[in-house]
Amino acid sequence: MISKVLIIGACGQIGSELTYKLRLQNGADNVIASDINEGNFELVNSGPFEVIDAKNFNQIKNCVEKHNIDTIYLMAALLSAKAEQYPKKAWDLNMTSLFNVLDLAKDKLINKVFWPSSIAVFGSTTPKIKTPQQTIMEPTTVYGITKQAGEHWCKYYHENYDVDVRSIRYPGIISWKTLPGGGTTDYAIEIFHKAITDKKYECYIAEDTELPMMFMDDAVNAAINIMNADRVSIKIRSSYNLAAIGFTPKQIAESIKKHIPEFEITYNPDFRQKIAASWPQSIDDSKARQDWNWNHDFDLEDITKEMLMQLSNLHSVS
Ligand code: SER
Repeated sequence: MISKVLIIGACGQIGSELTYKLRLQNGADNVIASDINEGNFELVNSGPFEVIDAKNFNQIKNCVEKHNIDTIYLMAALLSAKAEQYPKKAWDLNMTSLFNVLDLAKDKLINKVFWPSSIAVFGSTTPKIKTPQQTIMEPTTVYGITKQAGEHWCKYYHENYDVDVRSIRYPGIISWKTLPGGGTTDYAIEIFHKAITDKKYECYIAEDTELPMMFMDDAVNAAINIMNADRVSIKIRSSYNLAAIGFTPKQIAESIKKHIPEFEITYNPDFRQKIAASWPQSIDDSKARQDWNWNHDFDLEDITKEMLMQLSNLHSVS
């Protein structure tokens, strides 16, 4: 029997593409999308949609009972840069939503939970190159604090209440369909839009700051694959390190220049530079590769080609 899935935060950057992919795989009616408002016309019209505030336990519970939901992907969150502006709001949303979903699993109203963590759980005292799965974690951002606390709670609910919660630490995610909101790594998306519309980009991250990154198709596959893996193969119940590629602003600009030679990048680092500088440059994700066969497909050249092609189409019709 195909399980019925609820995606909370389905209008967001990852939530929207996860919804489309799961609908293709499982059938649109088996994937209920939800968000705090109907913020994405195409998404809302691609299958069942419910307005849900992720902070509201009863709204989620009613939806689970109404649609016979078995699995929840909790994709709602305030990201790193935005969370620095609204610390308490970020703590409230990121933690309350997680407890709501974990409690539904504890009460056996649902069977499985996916919850994304982030490279933001690491901080300036963490080894920066090939950051190990288990290492020093002293996050410097509110977002990182919520993700680190969330990881502990996932593990706690698994060990004490037998909750099947699965999690990965996402790097920066690059995509073209839905704009991200409030992340530090968003520069790696803005740069493609500006390369097409203005042929130039002022980058808020310094030219040599390397960050781990991943294309959306890989990010969505990672979520679906970890959820489809046998329960016994998921040995880490806090969150798995996950990696694909890494680059600096200078390197992504060079990759764009191969296709748009007149493209120019300038640098004007702002508060987000401090956040980026506290995160790892590369991640050791060997546990994910071992335990549930994680593998990425897209390298920087593939991503550059795909982003420029898709965004050229998008900007020529808008
Ligand atoms: N992409 C996220 C951010 O920049 C990291 O998880 O906030």
